Amino acid sequence: MPANKTLAILGAGKLGVVLTQLALRAGYDVYIAGSGSADKIALSIQVLTPGAIATTAEDAVAHADIVILALPLGKYRTIPADKLRGKLVIDAMNYWWEVDGRESEFADPMTSSSEIVQDYLVGARVVKALSHMGYHHLLDESRPAGTPGRKAIAIAGDNDTDNQTVAALVNNLGFDPVIIGPLARGKILEPGHELFGAHVDKKSLLTIAAKNED
Ligand SMILES: NC(=O)c1ccc[n+]([C@@H]2O[C@H](COP(=O)([O-])OP(=O)(O)OC[C@H]3O[C@@H](n4cnc5c(N)ncnc54)[C@H](OP(=O)(O)O)[C@@H]3O)[C@@H](O)[C@H]2O)c1
Repeated sequence: MPANKTLAILGAGKLGVVLTQLALRAGYDVYIAGSGSADKIALSIQVLTPGAIATTAEDAVAHADIVILALPLGKYRTIPADKLRGKLVIDAMNYWWEVDGRESEFADPMTSSSEIVQDYLVGARVVKALSHMGYHHLLDESRPAGTPGRKAIAIAGDNDTDNQTVAALVNNLGFDPVIIGPLARGKILEPGHELFGAHVDKKSLLTIAAKNED
């Protein structure tokens, strides 16, 4: 049974559903929420991710050891920030102008979107992870530890213990974890950067990250 075994996944779309499927397979308990009431997602969750609990964002967070943000970044201010105080939060969101709008606070090339999310989530500990690989690759490429060519997931966070906790989760979901540095460094995982979309092994990920040193 994994440590930190209860996850709240905020966002019941493409990414949220795939992460839920991987997490259930790895033995986690998963509470998943969309933007509204549990009723809105109950049937699809029952069909797509049997065993997960469809609920509201507030209720999911209340149960969770780890919260995963899998909603459109432009909606981050709808996250119930007061409920996330003290929680370890994985930010898997990206700025995607077609969804989030062109005139955006996320267009600043000097600030990572996860730093903006961290500023909003006062008292939470935000780590960026599970953001750079497409949902279909996440679903198809999950492998047991030690499998040759296993794909890697980058992690950026300011606290070593939290980074290690996220690394353990990433490993349990079927990927080699690679800690690339503090939260600000998560910038190199964002759209427009080479690691965005990467579904490569650990060695290649480290090579690309090194090429993108400040
Ligand atoms: N798709 C990918 O391959 C992929 C990979 C890595 C990262 N990401 C990132 O993950 C995020 C989600 O992408 P997606 O493709 O999964 O989008 P999506 O399919 O459009 O799903 C978004 C989900 O977020 C929900 N949502 C909106 N506001 C919410 C809130 N306040 N609390 C909880 N849920 C809320 C939506 O619910 P309603 O339908 O009720 O509005 C919907 O279920 C984006 O930031 C994206 O950049 C996506």
